[in-house]
Amino acid sequence: MGKKTILSGIQATGNLTLGNYLGAIQNWVKMQDEYDCYYMIADLHSLTVRNDPEVLRKRAMQVLAIYVASGLDPEKNTIFLQSQVDAHVKLNWILNCYTYMGELNRMTQFKDKSAKHADNINSGLFTYPVLMASDILVYNADLVPVGEDQRQHLEITRDIAERFNAIYGQTFVIPEAFIGEQGARIMGLQDPTAKMSKSATNLNDVIFLNDSPEDIRKKLKKAVTDSENCVRYDKENKPGVSNLMTIYGLIEGKSMDEVEKEFEGKGYGDFKNKTAEVVVKKLQPLQEKYYDLLENPEKLKEIYESGAKKAQKKANKIVNEVYQKVGLIINS
Ligand code: TYM
Repeated sequence: MGKKTILSGIQATGNLTLGNYLGAIQNWVKMQDEYDCYYMIADLHSLTVRNDPEVLRKRAMQVLAIYVASGLDPEKNTIFLQSQVDAHVKLNWILNCYTYMGELNRMTQFKDKSAKHADNINSGLFTYPVLMASDILVYNADLVPVGEDQRQHLEITRDIAERFNAIYGQTFVIPEAFIGEQGARIMGLQDPTAKMSKSATNLNDVIFLNDSPEDIRKKLKKAVTDSENCVRYDKENKPGVSNLMTIYGLIEGKSMDEVEKEFEGKGYGDFKNKTAEVVVKKLQPLQEKYYDLLENPEKLKEIYESGAKKAQKKANKIVNEVYQKVGLIINS
């Protein structure tokens, strides 16, 4: 049997965070040998909010550079820009016609995002999950490695795929979400009850992947904890400390029990310093590669161009099959 297929992506809106890395990219890197992987930069999804065009192009290249700097090998993985593979938007239109308003109305991210962008609640924001479903189904992906916040989008993707299959016969693979046990939801450093987000207004809440070591240390020093001064995992009552433990544990490859033992009898000062050191140690080599790649736009272009070619090949096959099934005439 051939390798199973994976697809995932990150929007090109804002700087990537430690949440994106620990919730998504770090898992992708581990999967690259075992699976046939498609990793895209979701630049079309980024259009649901207003962007400066030049900034959007720059961000797309930054996300690509982060992928590669994080260890995704462009030879092993198909790395591409969503907007360069037309099949996504072709399937998107079709799937729009098989998705109900009521289903989209239930999406919590739509509700959150509409509250955040009350002056621009466009229909792209509303149908965002259908484009995401198209991204996944157009490769017949078996697995979709994402953070917890994308779970609902995976569920609607499965529903759409099952609906289509029920009408037209087996067409789409029903994809599974791959959500890590730890790190599926890295929380804010200042508000550990909300997820760490690219669009946070309080910059101390977020560690960006391109933060300097000084900023990382400063932000972790300021991270909200509690008054117990005991490194113990208790998400409910100690959300701040539990979040830092998750970060530490994921980077060091340690369970929460092991982290507790390691810091037994030590206070938060020690724990925060040690956490800052492992984050800096993890991000420094990544940043070096990242800045090198950004200085080499030709190399980046080579990666996304060859990625788009490979992706197109696979995606076109599935779109043609769908066109055929719904009754469109395909130009040969
Ligand atoms: P986006 O760009 O918001 O986030 C990219 C990935 O990072 C994960 N993530 C987190 N994980 C843990 N803790 C956090 N604080 C955190 N913040 C973000 C997200 O769960 C996600 O896996 N709609 C998607 C992009 C997308 C996509 C797709 C993903 C478009 N098409 C198809 C998978 C498959 C999004 O906005 O992710």
